[in-house]
Amino acid sequence: MKTPVVILNFKTYLEASGEKALDLAKSLESAADETGITMVAAPQACDIYRIKEETSIPVLSQHIDAITPGSHTGSTLFEALVDNGIDGSLINHSEKRLTLADIQSVNQKLHDEELISCICTNNVETSVAAACFNPDIVAIEPPQLIGTGVSVSQAEPEIVEGTVSKVKEINPDVKVLCGAGISTGEDMRAAIDLGAEGVLLASGIVKAENPKKALVDLVSKL
Ligand code: G3P
Repeated sequence: MKTPVVILNFKTYLEASGEKALDLAKSLESAADETGITMVAAPQACDIYRIKEETSIPVLSQHIDAITPGSHTGSTLFEALVDNGIDGSLINHSEKRLTLADIQSVNQKLHDEELISCICTNNVETSVAAACFNPDIVAIEPPQLIGTGVSVSQAEPEIVEGTVSKVKEINPDVKVLCGAGISTGEDMRAAIDLGAEGVLLASGIVKAENPKKALVDLVSKL
């Protein structure tokens, strides 16, 4: 994946669900075409197929359960997501934590199919643990800043720098992204200046009056 990268987590916002998820994915596609920056959608599982059918952007699942096919009502099955066209998945988002064993298992499934794995972490120590699984991406997101509009790259630069330096010591090929509170071009510029290779964000774009303009502004200082 070409960096810098912007991964937009649609979460379960109404503004990013169903028909509106498709509109948002098209905004990502058009902002990517206009700016040349890689933009990736992470919609709810139910919206993945439609977005894959109607856009050309990479699509990640927000979550995968560490299960095998069979009797697991209500779970999100890796094989079904693959069949619906995912390019990869977030793992262990702070709103959907997994056990260490499950993180390893899901990361391995993605690796075996040559799909993108993005393990979310909450501090430098968990980022180090995540890097040991050799995912494609570690995304550091302090949970206390999520959804606040207070950017991790400006409010807690040391956690981004610390993650970059420790993760790269373990495996320089693992890309480090940061997220939480990021919404402006200054926030993204600060993230890149701290050594991050992109951002994982949600509310600043999902809730913007004009998401495409917000995306173009986000990468305008790169
Ligand atoms: O996965 C992205 C995320 O948790 C950050 O959310 O709303 O602070 O950009 P937000």
